[in-house]
Amino acid sequence: MGQLDGLSTIVTGAGRGIGRAIAKVYAREGATVSLLSRTQATVEQVAEEIRAEGGAARAYACDVGQRQQVFDVINQAITDMGTVDVLVNNAQGFGTQSSPRSSTKYFGVEETPDDEIEYIFRTGAMASLWGMQAVFPVMKAKGWGKIINFSSTSGILGTTGNTAYNVTKEAVRSLSRTAANEWGQWGINVNVISPTLRTDAFEAWEADRPEFVKALREALPMRRLGDPELDGGPLAVFLASHGSDFITGMTFMLNGGKLMP
Ligand SMILES: NC(=O)c1ccc[n+]([C@@H]2O[C@H](COP(=O)([O-])OP(=O)(O)OC[C@H]3O[C@@H](n4cnc5c(N)ncnc54)[C@H](OP(=O)(O)O)[C@@H]3O)[C@@H](O)[C@H]2O)c1
Repeated sequence: MGQLDGLSTIVTGAGRGIGRAIAKVYAREGATVSLLSRTQATVEQVAEEIRAEGGAARAYACDVGQRQQVFDVINQAITDMGTVDVLVNNAQGFGTQSSPRSSTKYFGVEETPDDEIEYIFRTGAMASLWGMQAVFPVMKAKGWGKIINFSSTSGILGTTGNTAYNVTKEAVRSLSRTAANEWGQWGINVNVISPTLRTDAFEAWEADRPEFVKALREALPMRRLGDPELDGGPLAVFLASHGSDFITGMTFMLNGGKLMP
């Protein structure tokens, strides 16, 4: 018996990092998983790994920064799975539409370019909103659903040089609380994970600001970064399962004690 037996789940940004880990753990717990990312080959590879372990997975190319693609691909995934119970809005773009990057880049507030804010906000906050709007009719009709969004301690603390990312991730938290207030009556839970887990994006950030990230890591009470599957998987499973039915609008600090608000 898996903790997510029979559930139909959608995970964005599932080609690597936290999204990949959540997709794999969900499948091991019995869920059917739809994996989305811009790069078809990477999500197809993860879906193949899941199927090789005996799980159920399909891969879809989707740029979550493109509104129509989000609705079209999520509707297709719902059709293919028959329904949707869980949406994990994990994808986050960086850089600009014409020059996407794999992580944030330092800009002081006064020099932050409009196109950075536009792209990072669109692929984070707007993408999360569009994903939520796409699954809402099905979840409302069945009177149950789980939405998991992603924020960052960088946004909560106002980490320097991260304006575009910070405003995006705090917008996601506010969006989540608003939807939690509106959609609780239909049994839909909307919660947020604020992670500190070792992924490609984290390593790219470390490469851009080595001293800053070194100090951050050394200040962690747990003295290590989390592992996406081992440390991130259990919380993501809990927030997708009946055990969290009475918890909504909350931000969960999955960060080894980095921030304890
Ligand atoms: N790692 C941490 O410690 C940390 C800390 C704070 C917050 N977070 C948040 O946690 C989430 C996952 O982070 P991560 O470290 O796992 O990131 P990651 O390693 O960079 O992985 C990001 C995933 O999202 C996909 N993606 C990027 N832009 C996309 C777009 N426009 N449309 C669709 N998919 C897109 C990427 O695949 P493609 O390139 O193929 O699209 C990739 O699969 C993000 O929301 C991030 O902001 C992470």
